[in-house]
Amino acid sequence: MNDERAWVVSREALGGEYYRLRLRPAEPFSAAPGQFAMVRVGDGLEPLLRRPFSLHRVDRSGEFELLFRVVGDGTRRLARARVGDRLDVLAPLGRGFDLVGERPVLVGGGVGVAPLLFLAEALLDRGLRPTLLLGGRTDRDLLCHDDFRCLAVPYRLVTEDGSTGEAGRVTRLLQPELARGGEAPAVYACGPPAMLAAVSALCQGRAARCQVSMEASMACGVGACLGCVVPRARGGYLRVCKEGPVFDADQVAWDPAGAAPKKMRRSGTNS
Ligand SMILES: Cc1cc2nc3c(=O)[nH]c(=O)nc-3n(C[C@H](O)[C@H](O)[C@H](O)COP(=O)(O)OP(=O)(O)OC[C@H]3O[C@@H](n4cnc5c(N)ncnc54)[C@H](O)[C@@H]3O)c2cc1C
Ligand code: FES
Repeated sequence: MNDERAWVVSREALGGEYYRLRLRPAEPFSAAPGQFAMVRVGDGLEPLLRRPFSLHRVDRSGEFELLFRVVGDGTRRLARARVGDRLDVLAPLGRGFDLVGERPVLVGGGVGVAPLLFLAEALLDRGLRPTLLLGGRTDRDLLCHDDFRCLAVPYRLVTEDGSTGEAGRVTRLLQPELARGGEAPAVYACGPPAMLAAVSALCQGRAARCQVSMEASMACGVGACLGCVVPRARGGYLRVCKEGPVFDADQVAWDPAGAAPKKMRRSGTNS
């Protein structure tokens, strides 16, 4: 996409801190599920850096959607965007999911469901029948399951406080899927770093191929600044924006304590 302009076509407040924007780009692009966009969220110098968001949906019409949670200044500004506003957007970026396996199992945590809707649509287009396992802290963090229902994608829900679905974490739903006989599942996961580490650990040593969509703080989004690296399993580093954000789980050096790769634990903000 050479022309970075995109106009807001609709804005949905989904409750709590969650929003969905639909955008019409000046120059339509095709993208793979799992790729992302870098969005300039302010007109002036503040905030300076673009913010990365997964492509939530890309239509044949050329319009695309972002689903996001307000966590700081940039997303707060984005949530205030109005229909007709113009945003500067670099997209599509990074490497998306490989569409593999006869039994796709999509595992989402909170707003990590964002790229999984686009992925489900692409899998269905290929005649594959995905299942969604979706977890959140409370029922307010379970997003978009109605969209999956409209696609006739079966889904199971879990919340940490038991307010909807089973009580617990999403890995609880994944275990029986991995234990089932027959075709090994192809696992596609997106969510908080600790969830990805747990999903990766569950899939390790099994026939299931596991792909994870990772997050990291990003400055350039195009592989130039090395601000987004995570440790690679066989030594060295991987740029989340360039070699990722989707990785095979066994490419990443997960923290032995079961948490995210060290580089992903952020305390500061990117300005
Ligand atoms: C490839 C990629 C895809 C993403 N897709 C989505 C998406 O679809 N929907 C969505 O809501 N968010 C997504 N994110 C995260 C999103 O980019 C951040 O939430 C956003 O940049 C925060 O900007 P801010 O200015 O509001 O917050 P800031 O002021 O920059 O930060 C506020 C707080 O959030 C933390 N934070 C900021 N960015 C991240 C991050 N990437 N990972 C972990 N903690 C972070 C900071 O440490 C800080 O505590 C994605 C990130 C990446 C790298
Ligand atoms: S954000 Fe600059 S290299 Fe990844």
